[in-house]
Parts: sequence; C-alpha cells; structure tokens
Amino acid sequence: MLNHFKQLLVFGLFFLAACGGGTEPTAPQPTLSPQAQQGKQVFSRDCGACHSTSPDTIIVGPSLAGIASLAETRVEGQDGYTYLLTSVMQPEAYLVEGYENLMPASLSKQLTGEELDAVIAYLQTLE
Ligand code: HEC
Repeated sequence: MLNHFKQLLVFGLFFLAACGGGTEPTAPQPTLSPQAQQGKQVFSRDCGACHSTSPDTIIVGPSLAGIASLAETRVEGQDGYTYLLTSVMQPEAYLVEGYENLMPASLSKQLTGEELDAVIAYLQTLE
C-alpha cells in the first residue's frame, strides 16, 4: 500500500515537473562535451581571427562550418581526425584550393597537447 502511494507521489511530481507550472518548455540545446567546450575556447582565442564557423564566411582562412565531414574527404586515404591534426601541425601539408599558406605553423608549438586535442574535438562537432 505504502509503495503504491509512493509510486503515485513520484508520478504526480513528474507530471508537475513535466508541465513546468505553465511556462513554455525550452528547446533542448545541443551540449558540447567538456573537452569540446574547452576546444571552443581555444578556437576563439587562436583560430577565430582567421576562421569563421558560419557557412561561407571567409575571414583569412576558409569557413570551418561542416569541417567534420569535409575533413573525411580532403586527402585520399586520410581519415578526418588525421586531416584535422595535420591541418594544425603542418598547415602547408595540404592547402585548400584558392588559399595561400597563411596559417601560422607556430600554432603547433604554441598549443599544449591538451589544447590541441580539445580544439580538434571541437572541430569534429562542426558537422
Ligand atoms: C593567420 C590566419 C589563420 C589562423 C590563426 C588559423 N588558420 Fe587555419 N587556415 C588558414 C588558411 C589561410 C587556411 C587555408 C590554407 C591551408 O589549407 O593551409 C587554413 C586552413 C585550415 C584548415 C583546413 C580547412 C579545410 O577546409 O580543409 C583547418 C582545419 C584549419 N585551418 C584549422 C585551424 C585551427 C584549428 C586554427 C587554430 C588552432 C587555425 N586554423 C588558425 C589561416 C589561419
């Protein structure tokens, strides 16, 4: 009997919570993993001056909107992760058509290993 009552109570609370007291439910936001979140900060600090994440927005370098999927197709036989890592560590290894080699090679020395992993994890969220 007591258990039954508890179930009712839990259900009741859930129902109340679900209705949210009449306020509009907020749309769920996609959340970044803590690593990708850190990468986003690294990106705005070290990459954002040259790269936008909005489609077709060229600053100095190409827009990185959709780079997660694009990275898979850039270099024959290279997976997306390897392409992204190489893009940062050796920017001259592959030049995007129409762009010059303006990406600083010094980034590879400037970033800590942790920051590098984080920024790549962030780029991999840019589907
Ligand atoms: C001074 C400007 C500049 C900065 C700063 C810069 N980039 Fe670039 N980046 C470029 C240019 C120009 C290109 C195109 C030429 C090439 O392929 O290297 C490019 C290309 C790329 C590409 C390949 C894009 C594609 O469509 O294949 C990736 C990935 C990339 N950058 C990531 C980064 C990341 C991550 C950072 C920060 C850690 C960064 N860039 C910082 C200028 C910059």
